[in-house]
Amino acid sequence: MDNNKNWIDQRFPLTKVWNEHLAEYYTPRNFNFWYFFGSLAMLVLVMQIVTGIFLTMHFKPDSASAFASVEYIMRDVNWGWLIRYLHSTGASAFFIVIYLHMYRGLLYGSYKSPRELIWILGMILYIALMAEAFMGYVLPWGQMSYWGAQVIISLFGSVPYIGHDLLIWILGDYAVGDPALNRFFSLHVIALPLILVILVFLHIVALHTVGSNNPDGVEIKKNKDKDGIPKDGIPFHPYYSVKDIVGVVVFLMLFSAVVFFAPAMNGYFLEHANFIEANPLKTPDHIAPLWYLTPFYSVLRAIPPMFGSQFPGVVGMFAALLILLALPWLDRSKVKSIRYRSAPYKYALGIFVISFVYLGYLGMQPVTPTNALLARVFTVLYFGFFILMPWFTSIGKTKQVPERVTGK
Ligand code: HEM
Repeated sequence: MDNNKNWIDQRFPLTKVWNEHLAEYYTPRNFNFWYFFGSLAMLVLVMQIVTGIFLTMHFKPDSASAFASVEYIMRDVNWGWLIRYLHSTGASAFFIVIYLHMYRGLLYGSYKSPRELIWILGMILYIALMAEAFMGYVLPWGQMSYWGAQVIISLFGSVPYIGHDLLIWILGDYAVGDPALNRFFSLHVIALPLILVILVFLHIVALHTVGSNNPDGVEIKKNKDKDGIPKDGIPFHPYYSVKDIVGVVVFLMLFSAVVFFAPAMNGYFLEHANFIEANPLKTPDHIAPLWYLTPFYSVLRAIPPMFGSQFPGVVGMFAALLILLALPWLDRSKVKSIRYRSAPYKYALGIFVISFVYLGYLGMQPVTPTNALLARVFTVLYFGFFILMPWFTSIGKTKQVPERVTGK
């Protein structure tokens, strides 16, 4: 055995990488459950790739047979229903995990120096994930696949001067059809998964360069013993590799409950209209993207058209997403963790979370005058969080941050 290890180590840095990134990689000893979601995101990514490979074996990326091929997977392919529901539920689970992962970043100021790049790579991952999910949802060629794509892609047509050409370039046609389905399939199964895997790798490299933050927001590398090991650090393996298994077990129990008992989640994970084949001649009564995209969809609808063009709404929607990239520089607070933050920050974060969730809810509802007004109010509050952040993070009284992490 030892000989084998030497044989490999002489040719490949197996033990070196194992030690540097697992057995001798020191992580803060005070992680709580908020630190489960990074490893869970990796698990879900792997699950999506594996189930996606099996779906691709039976799916036909052709507008004449795509819907029927999904029905075939559901009814005739051995375990096909399970593979498909694991994949469709996995998409929503991915976003639940990612939203909690991002919220942890806000709670503990994980995006602040020196972790700006981890955050930026995370944001690029988030955007790539949205594109991946959006294109995946078009593939089964149901009514919502078709009309959702039609609505979202037609937004590009509102770009001044180049809009019309851009739209035709994206679709390869004048409307959503076979060319769009073909290219979305190719991007969904090859290009974006590849980009996601590369980005996750870079995200982890950046994380391991600076080390993890923690619920106290104390930099453990500032307090090392005589051997150069952080006093508040414990090796990732076995301590957190084992702890992460707890997260995985709980996650898989909840995930299985949805997969086996409510895979469509009453229209939240698979919309009712998507069980009907796409019909370019019949628009569904109510078109809405899946829940994870609706906060941004709400911002789009909240901003009124100008000179008959929806372009301001499109700019608003992208701004709502991209402004998150600026977070590390908008936050002027001296402390990272919510435990020691000032009251103004805590209130602002609360209002921000309520705005984001409510925008998400409104994005699923039909537009009524009251809903439109509420969407505008929450859009203003959403942007207010970022625009006023340099101010409210520099006022108020913060608590004294301890020298060392707290807890036993
Ligand atoms: C496929 C998507 C993603 C994967 C697989 C992933 C994976 C991970 C893992 C394994 C960790 C370390 C464990 C942990 O802290 O939970 C981590 C940390 C982190 N991630 Fe992600 N991540 C993803 C997306 C994102 C996104 C969308 C953001 C934010 C925009 C983000 C921001 C961060 C930050 C700031 C940290 C450091 C947290 C800290 O040390 O407190 N990640 N990520």
